[in-house]
Amino acid sequence: MSDSIKTLQEKLALSKLGGGQARIDKQHEKGKLTARERIHFLMDAGTFEEIDALVTHRTKDFGMEKQIINGDGVITGYGKINGRLVYVFAQDFTVFGGSLSETHAEKICKIMDLAMKVKAPLIGLNDSGGARIQEGVRSLGGYADIFYRNVMASGVIPQISAIMGPCAGGAVYSPAMTDFTIMVQDTSYMFVTGPNVVKTVTNEEVSSEELGGASTHSTKSGVTHLTAANDIICLENIKQLLGYLPQNNTAKPPTKDFTTEDEFRPQLDDIIPASSNQPYDIREVIFGVSDEDSFMEIHPDYADNIVVGFTRIAGRSVGVIANQPMSLAGVLDVESSKKAARFVRCCDCFNVPMLVLVDVPGFLPGTDQEWNGIITNGAKLLYAFSEATVPRISVITRKAYGGAYDVMNSKHIGADMNFAWPSAEIAVMGAKGASEIIFRKEIKSADDPAAKLAEKEAEYAAKFANPYSAAERGFVDEVILPHETRRKLIKAFAMLENKDVSLPNKKHGNIPL
Ligand code: HXC
Repeated sequence: MSDSIKTLQEKLALSKLGGGQARIDKQHEKGKLTARERIHFLMDAGTFEEIDALVTHRTKDFGMEKQIINGDGVITGYGKINGRLVYVFAQDFTVFGGSLSETHAEKICKIMDLAMKVKAPLIGLNDSGGARIQEGVRSLGGYADIFYRNVMASGVIPQISAIMGPCAGGAVYSPAMTDFTIMVQDTSYMFVTGPNVVKTVTNEEVSSEELGGASTHSTKSGVTHLTAANDIICLENIKQLLGYLPQNNTAKPPTKDFTTEDEFRPQLDDIIPASSNQPYDIREVIFGVSDEDSFMEIHPDYADNIVVGFTRIAGRSVGVIANQPMSLAGVLDVESSKKAARFVRCCDCFNVPMLVLVDVPGFLPGTDQEWNGIITNGAKLLYAFSEATVPRISVITRKAYGGAYDVMNSKHIGADMNFAWPSAEIAVMGAKGASEIIFRKEIKSADDPAAKLAEKEAEYAAKFANPYSAAERGFVDEVILPHETRRKLIKAFAMLENKDVSLPNKKHGNIPL
């Protein structure tokens, strides 16, 4: 063997060791896999090709010139997941804490550029102490180079970020600009400023977990879309998520083989409770119309008055947006509007058709909502639906009241097909509230005001607590029985397969951010 081949082999062997065995052991002790192990479990066997394994940093300050480690704390390359090309970077915490140097950033930018040229998804496995402190502005510039590319790639290729360790400082902004963020429970956290800075500035005492752990970001801030119990589950989540998404914005999502049978689902007939104020779990409807075991909920622990996620209907990838009567009666509020708007835009930019299940009593009233901008935030969802050009189908299962009727993918804002169950109630507001306003004088002057109110309520309900007024005007295309919903959806999505609509020519719209 020639000396040059020996040298190459030694260098590559060293780069595979990252920061050394002791640091690898430490990573394992924390319950984390190493960067290389993560790539191994993520990619199809034997498909990963590494790029830039021999890159090293160029810093000569603070004794760094004596600490040269091949790869410089990030493994980058390409390979396949379920047979489809993806680009990946995995930060290696065993090398300078996975911190981002100028060269580390250059490696990431190189595969981002390749992903954009070839138009294939980008996956980032983040585990980093942030900007490489020894490099100062060069590492800050490196971050900005990545942020810029994240934005250019947004809406062109799917970008998925896994947070598999610390993610501090500006480092959180790259994941925040990607399409999906998945955090690992107990071993990852994300914050702009850590607990020490928080203590100095605000005098608050807070742990890293409380400030920016997975449970915080899955429930309070909504920063993470999914939480995984460990590294392996996180990597499985990435693979599953990719299965619903196309390679890029000019392609369609992958389909699964499907053979149509009778497709009636009698269990759907028993979901709506006898009283219209009783809750039920909208997921029962999602399961009832979906292919078996195909629903992947996104943001399951955040704003649970709306359910969003990907499912399959007759093998097609479909994004579901559904009011959840089990939580706050399915009302729209600030958080649920933001959550749904983001998901709608994600489906739209990646050609995923949408199914909207409507059971919404309206927008949540109150000072808290108004002061927190329910107007602007509700408008986000209205805007997102109105702008979406993918096939869009609604099913009104029960309530569609007030402005929320308009917002939840009504025909007026561009839905392609709207179905309603016989239990649908479509009106400006509920019968009681409406009667108290429009029959106030009559009720007040009645001998028995309570009886009068009940009589007027029944009158109003008979007129509006049904889908027929809307169907008479064509605002609802068809009133269907619950058990035939899946069958109707299969046909309607197939009918809309080649929908081709474009928006007016503009630089970009001005969504109420
Ligand atoms: C250089 C770093 C580093 C960094 C960690 N290391 N972070 N080296 N730059 N940012 C090194 C440590 O010196 C250590 O080296 C090794 O990585 C492992 O770190 P530990 O501290 O031993 O690990 P742990 O106890 O698990 O703590 C991890 C940590 C902590 C919480 C991430 O290291 C930490 O707080 N790091 C600094 C975080 C930070 O403030 N980053 C800058 C954010 S500002 P040795 O050789 O001792 O093993 C930022 C600006 C970006 O990112 C702006 C963009 C807009």
